[in-house]
Amino acid sequence: MSVTTQQLTRWKQQGRTIVALTAWDYTIAQLLDISGVDLILVGDSLAVILGYETTLPITLDEMIHHAQAVRRGVKNALVVVDLPFLTYQETISQAMHSAGRVLKETGAQAVKLEGGYPAMVSAITRLVEAGIPVMGHVGLTPQSIHQLGLGQQGKTQEAGERIFNEAIALEKAGVFAIVLEHIPTKLALQITQELCIPTIGIGAGSGCDGQVLVTSDILGLSEKQPPFAKVYTNLRETITKAVQDYAVEVREGEFPK
Ligand code: KIV
Repeated sequence: MSVTTQQLTRWKQQGRTIVALTAWDYTIAQLLDISGVDLILVGDSLAVILGYETTLPITLDEMIHHAQAVRRGVKNALVVVDLPFLTYQETISQAMHSAGRVLKETGAQAVKLEGGYPAMVSAITRLVEAGIPVMGHVGLTPQSIHQLGLGQQGKTQEAGERIFNEAIALEKAGVFAIVLEHIPTKLALQITQELCIPTIGIGAGSGCDGQVLVTSDILGLSEKQPPFAKVYTNLRETITKAVQDYAVEVREGEFPK
């Protein structure tokens, strides 16, 4: 049985921490799944893997293409797919069309949308009414990089209250979980204690119901990592060394024998 959106809420009630990571292809998704990751996010941070500087250029077709590969590699985890920039912000019908394409064409169980402002809450309400599971995302929302930058959000009383109220509005709209990105630990804890649905933190401290990081960051594949990421291994070094060893052996006639 694969992980369900309802199970995440039960895990929150039971105090079982949710483990989430991002994936962008079949192989990585399969490895995360067999390692016991609960939720696999096909994040639009895929942009970085594709060589873009921000998440803005990623298209819905690119997300769907990668989400299909991820889905083929996953047997147990819940698969959630980011709707990319300007594929859901224009109108409710645009959001419905994009989310519907993701669910129909990839087999993923849910979509994630950034923002908790009133128009986004209305769009999410309609998606949930239509039976589309939605994960929210507040705090640092990288699709708004040119407005917010990539720094910590919610540092002033006013900004913190705004994020707190957005999270409450998203829960009312029916999201099954909310990503809290790069906000103060205390604020994330307040939101986590207030909500019945789970919070999944990234750079939001240890008080959330679950944690997510970008897999290329924890594997040391990214050229640079955000300050809150932890690098568990250095695959850039490992891969470079393996490729250099191969090149030497081929050039020196040592491989193949
Ligand atoms: O795109 C992404 O990888 C994300 C995570 C950072 C939460 O949204």
